[in-house]
Amino acid sequence: MSRRVRCSVKDSMCLILVSFSLVQAQQHVEIDFAASRHKEYLFISTFNLSWHKAFEYCRGQGMFLVSIQNREELEAVKDTINMSGFWKKNHYLHMWTSLNDIGEEGQYYWASTGTRTQLDLWRDTDPNNSQHDTCTDEDCVALVHFRDLTVTYGLDDRACSSEFMFMCET
Ligand SMILES: *[C@@H]1O[C@H](CO)[C@@H](O)[C@H](O)[C@H]1NC(C)=O
Ligand SMILES: *[C@@H]1O[C@H](CO)[C@@H](O)[C@H](O)[C@H]1NC(C)=O
Ligand SMILES: *[C@@H]1O[C@H](CO)[C@@H](O)[C@H](O)[C@H]1NC(C)=O
Repeated sequence: MSRRVRCSVKDSMCLILVSFSLVQAQQHVEIDFAASRHKEYLFISTFNLSWHKAFEYCRGQGMFLVSIQNREELEAVKDTINMSGFWKKNHYLHMWTSLNDIGEEGQYYWASTGTRTQLDLWRDTDPNNSQHDTCTDEDCVALVHFRDLTVTYGLDDRACSSEFMFMCET
């Protein structure tokens, strides 16, 4: 198996399935639990944290900072925000995801799954690694949406120390 299978801490059934498959399959098998498993989401919009603090907060809940690996997951994230009633009170969203290039400039990975980004959801001018000062550039990625403008659920690289809302997933 070349990829690591991530399961939530609570999801012991998944772990059992993985070990079972490893015994059964002698050859290289790709098991993409991320695409098929049912994720649960927790949208935090009542306070803002830096990217690292948000990551920590999600781990503290037994969850991970959100990843958006395909269209289905993007729809699930949008639905979660929509169902929270967020758009009744807010006009725009800046929400941390687990996407980052902290490890190597320009190489973006979802920290929660260890996978590269597949969907191209970048905003027109991003990622631009905008330089804030001599030791601060943009290595962490937020999902942004402006309700009344044409910016529709795009990814935007930001300074990891910026404090935004965030979402956790199982
Ligand atoms: C969190 O940040 C957003 C902007 O991204 C801001 O509108 C909101 O007031 C902040 N929330 C708190 C609790 O400071
Ligand atoms: C959010 O919900 C409203 C109805 O409450 C619906 O009109 C809208 O299309 C939904 N948006 C998304 C992105 O699901
Ligand atoms: C980087 O992109 C953001 C939009 O996400 C834009 O506001 C900012 O001006 C850009 N910075 C540079 C240096 O291009």
